[in-house]
Parts: sequence; C-alpha cells; structure tokens
Amino acid sequence: MVRINRWLAIIAFVIYTPLGLSAQAASPSFMEMKFINISHRGASGHAPEHTFTSYELGKAMNGDYIEIDLQMTEDGELIALHDETIDRTTGKKGLVKDLTREEIKQLDAGSWFNEAFPEKANPEYKGLQIPTLREVFDQFGNDSKFFIETKSPDVYPEMEEKLINLLYEYNLIGGVNDSGNVIIQSFSAESLRKIHAMEESIPLIQLLSYYAPASMTDSEIEKLKEYAVGVGMHFTAANPAYVKKVKDSGLLILPYTVNEKEDMEMLLDWGVNGMFTNYPDRLDEVIRKRIERNMIHP
Ligand code: G3P
Ligand code: CA
Repeated sequence: MVRINRWLAIIAFVIYTPLGLSAQAASPSFMEMKFINISHRGASGHAPEHTFTSYELGKAMNGDYIEIDLQMTEDGELIALHDETIDRTTGKKGLVKDLTREEIKQLDAGSWFNEAFPEKANPEYKGLQIPTLREVFDQFGNDSKFFIETKSPDVYPEMEEKLINLLYEYNLIGGVNDSGNVIIQSFSAESLRKIHAMEESIPLIQLLSYYAPASMTDSEIEKLKEYAVGVGMHFTAANPAYVKKVKDSGLLILPYTVNEKEDMEMLLDWGVNGMFTNYPDRLDEVIRKRIERNMIHP
C-alpha cells in the first residue's frame, strides 16, 4: 500500500507540477514556490467571499492557497469573515464579538453578492453560510493550503492560541506536514510574534500599510526577519526598487489584491513571488502564458 501511494504521489507530481497546479502532497514547499497564486477570500471576484463556494472555485481555478480572514465569536469560535461586523455581507447588523456561533450560522452570506453584482448573480448563492474555521478544515483540510490572516487580534483574546490548537487538532501543522501548507499573515506584528513564539515552523507574512510609495530600511528588514519570511502590501504601493530590496534581503514579497492582468504582468516583471487575487483564474492564465513563452520556468 505504501509503495502504491508513493507511485501515486510521483504520478501526481509529474502530471501537475509542470503545469503549475496544486498538488499538496508533492508540491514544493512554500519558500521554494516560484509564483504563488492566492485566492483572496476564495475566488471572491466570482462568488461571495469567504463561502465554501468561493473557496471551491479558488481551488478549481488553480489558486495555490485559500486566503482566510479570521474573526472570533462571543463564544470563542473562529470564523472566516473579513469585517469585524456582519453588516456588509449579511444584510444584518452587529459586531462578530457580540454574536454567538449559532447566531452567525443563521446568517445569509450570499444574497448581498447577487444584489451588488447582478451580472454575476446566481440563485445558489442565496443562503450561503459564514463558515467556521473548523468547518473549513473539515471540508478542505486534507488537500488544500491555507493563507490565514489574524484580523483585529487585539479585539479577540487568545485568537492565536485557538488557531494554533485547531491547526494541531487537524494535523495541519507539526509532524509529517510540510512547512508551508499553512501560512499565517497579519498586519499585527505582535500577533505574528506571538505565533512565532508558540510554533516557529509556521511561515509568517507581515502585512504592511503604506501611505506613500513603499520603502524599507535595513534595520526594518532585520526586525522583520526575526519572525517573518515575507511581506505583503497593497500592490499600488510597490515599485521595482522596493521589490528588489525586499527580495535581495531574502524576504518574500506578495502584494495584494491584484485583479487586472496588466497589473499581474507588471508585478511579475518586477519579480514578486506571488500575489493575492480575487481572480485566481486570471493569474493562472498569466502564469501559464509566461511559461509557454519561456519567460519563466515552473
Ligand atoms: O491578506 C492580504 C489582504 O487580504 C489584506 O487586506 O483587507 O483584504 O484583508 P484585506
Ligand atoms: Ca486578508
């Protein structure tokens, strides 16, 4: 049986890897990946963000990672939702921290999308639920990669501990797992340092906000390297000199959220390691064309 599994893994590697497709068991580790396609809130340009539907689409469109924003309910359940409130995506009002898991699960997280984007509307989106992180792992845990963001960690006591415990419970970190099937990102350096202290094998990405064109000093780079393997920033802040400096320092650079092909092309020309996109299908197409033109090697 072991031998058969090994052959299946080799066959999957041969079939998928040259095409740049995801194949968790045989894919290169995070630091070795050349062009990381991150489905931002799932394929959220096509379907309601942070639903099983958008996550499934992200995978089907060859996103390497499912990006998940974390919030936490009043009764301590980690859920996949971008905002601290439910207002924008459910038609109801309230702070996640004041609602229970049960109350969150009653909400309709799909209808808003049909109203906001009638040209993409689908009756099946009506009634889609906000997933708990546990549900995400139940559904996708075995053959998916996750790019998880601790959102507002100052609002949620012990969010990091709960996350690490859940990752262990689902065998997504530690043991036989390749370092890089789970990446954790945050705008909060404190949250990332806390995670690094708890489990230093998890690759961490520091998200950065820039009000001017991005730049980074040598001492900032050294501080980042104490806990993070890379940085992410809005793609409009990046520039060629910045990308070069970050990469030369040994850090990865993963801009967000890049939805137009010409911007994807520009950033790849500058040498970024990958990017977050609501349209993983577009990024996949850009990458495939480059491989065909021999501009990049898978
Ligand atoms: O995680 C990268 C990007 O998602 C950060 O911005 O607001 O979309 O979570 P936001
Ligand atoms: Ca995010």
